[in-house]
Amino acid sequence: MALQRLPGELVARGTRSSIRAYGRGAVVKIPHRSTPDGWIEWEAQYADDVRAVGAPVPRLLGIERLSGRAASVWEHIRGCSMWQRVVDRPDDSAELGRMLADVQCALLELVPPITLPRQRDRVVAKIRMSAVKVDASLIRALDLIPIAASPPHLCHGDLHPSNVILSDDGPVIVDWFDASRGDPVADIARTSMTLLNDGATPPRHLPGSDLETLGTLTAAYLSQLRLRLEFADAQLVQWQAIQAVARIAEGVPRDSLIEVWRSFARANPPVAAQAASN
Ligand SMILES: Nc1ncnc2c1ncn2[C@@H]1O[C@H](COP(=O)(O)OP(=O)(O)O)[C@@H](O)[C@H]1O
Ligand SMILES: [Mg+2]
Repeated sequence: MALQRLPGELVARGTRSSIRAYGRGAVVKIPHRSTPDGWIEWEAQYADDVRAVGAPVPRLLGIERLSGRAASVWEHIRGCSMWQRVVDRPDDSAELGRMLADVQCALLELVPPITLPRQRDRVVAKIRMSAVKVDASLIRALDLIPIAASPPHLCHGDLHPSNVILSDDGPVIVDWFDASRGDPVADIARTSMTLLNDGATPPRHLPGSDLETLGTLTAAYLSQLRLRLEFADAQLVQWQAIQAVARIAEGVPRDSLIEVWRSFARANPPVAAQAASN
């Protein structure tokens, strides 16, 4: 008799999927209906590749089909997400912000698998989509992308506290769909855009806390990176403007992102004069 395994209790819900218990010691990642086909397989492949170069990532156990769609099966990491810890213990938010920076620095030291997409290609595609979907003048962000100076680094592409699980063996990083080979400052800018508030509340993927706590975490995250890596503030601000435009393509609330882009344009009239007046 074939043993049929059914997804068990909900472990957590992400922006693109639900994570459910799946037999002993495993979880299954089931994409939301709105999540495009192929997404699960690509993410699993990237996660497996970065695990092979030493990144702390759950072990991929397989890909199965549930209700006709691919679902990925992973080692169940015990622990709470870094964001849940922020919500439970807001007084620790500065310490957790520094930890997020340390997690990112550790990834940047690894050899990026050649199988990962180039960060530049990902950013260009998203900027084009933002320009088509929202406002044609956003295409000017393409001109701001710097020529890559150093060899590419391993960039997670969506490193925010909901994608870090605090396990007994240290932080473990999930959600590798946006992984790439690229510029560390671009990845830092990307994280800072995922930490941007949505009006009076934290963003949807970081629910249940308050703006002050989020602000403390973000400030500690950036200060720690300034201590550990060498980059100019102007470089970060430029990449934040680029990543703000790229993120608009993801369909998240966009007012704060547009404001990041416009304030860069106002401060740099020759680069993006048109954008500021739109
Ligand atoms: N292997 C795992 N073990 C335990 N919890 C996990 C595992 N993978 C993900 N999670 C939890 O599920 C949440 C959503 O997973 P994630 O991969 O980020 O999905 P999404 O891409 O939908 O955001 C994470 O924030 C994390 O708390
Ligand atoms: Mg996630």
